[in-house]
Amino acid sequence: MSSISFIGLGGMTRAIGARAVEGGNAVEVTGRDAAKAKDLAAALGGGATAGTFGKVIIDISNTFNADATGLVTPDGTSGAQEIAKAVPASAHVVKAFNTVFGHVLAQGHPLDVLIAGDDARAKASVSAFIESLGLRPLDTGDLAMAHWLEGAGLLMMGLARHGVGFNFTLGVNLPG
Ligand SMILES: NC(=O)c1ccc[n+]([C@@H]2O[C@H](COP(=O)([O-])OP(=O)(O)OC[C@H]3O[C@@H](n4cnc5c(N)ncnc54)[C@H](OP(=O)(O)O)[C@@H]3O)[C@@H](O)[C@H]2O)c1
Repeated sequence: MSSISFIGLGGMTRAIGARAVEGGNAVEVTGRDAAKAKDLAAALGGGATAGTFGKVIIDISNTFNADATGLVTPDGTSGAQEIAKAVPASAHVVKAFNTVFGHVLAQGHPLDVLIAGDDARAKASVSAFIESLGLRPLDTGDLAMAHWLEGAGLLMMGLARHGVGFNFTLGVNLPG
């Protein structure tokens, strides 16, 4: 069981938060509107609360431009790395969930969740959390890999728009 704080009260918080509650995790939601945070906590149930920030930061963002045809982050960095520069050194950033569509996650399938981060303990704790959701964490390497995970998010948009549609997951098959 993990103690998880979500920053932002949108669709992804609702989708991941619902699975986190189902998985028996202690869930806290935080946003710029305290009443909205309270309402979402109540909707999630399972003792979820509206509250404050945690020490391991899971960055789920996709750094698309407005029409999702490119990344707004330059080569050599990523949204996750920029967040890591901005937060205190004690707050480890782990990239995760950006290659999972929220509406697909909400369907309850066992999915692969690609992660990246510099701190082994932070990644182990995020991996344990992901497993508690009934999902498979797959470590892609250090936080610099977040650039490529964000590129994979863009790749998913390309697939979705060119024939595959939006109801799919990105994962790893192990033959044999
Ligand atoms: N949707 C997906 O399938 C998907 C998949 C993978 C990754 N992601 C990533 O997940 C993140 C959230 O996506 P979502 O679909 O949940 O989006 P969403 O439903 O639009 O929710 C966005 C949340 O961010 C908050 N927010 C926006 N600007 C803010 C600011 N300047 N300061 C503080 N809070 C701010 C909003 O606050 P208010 O409620 O106050 O407006 C809202 O709670 C995004 O970075 C997205 O790239 C999404």
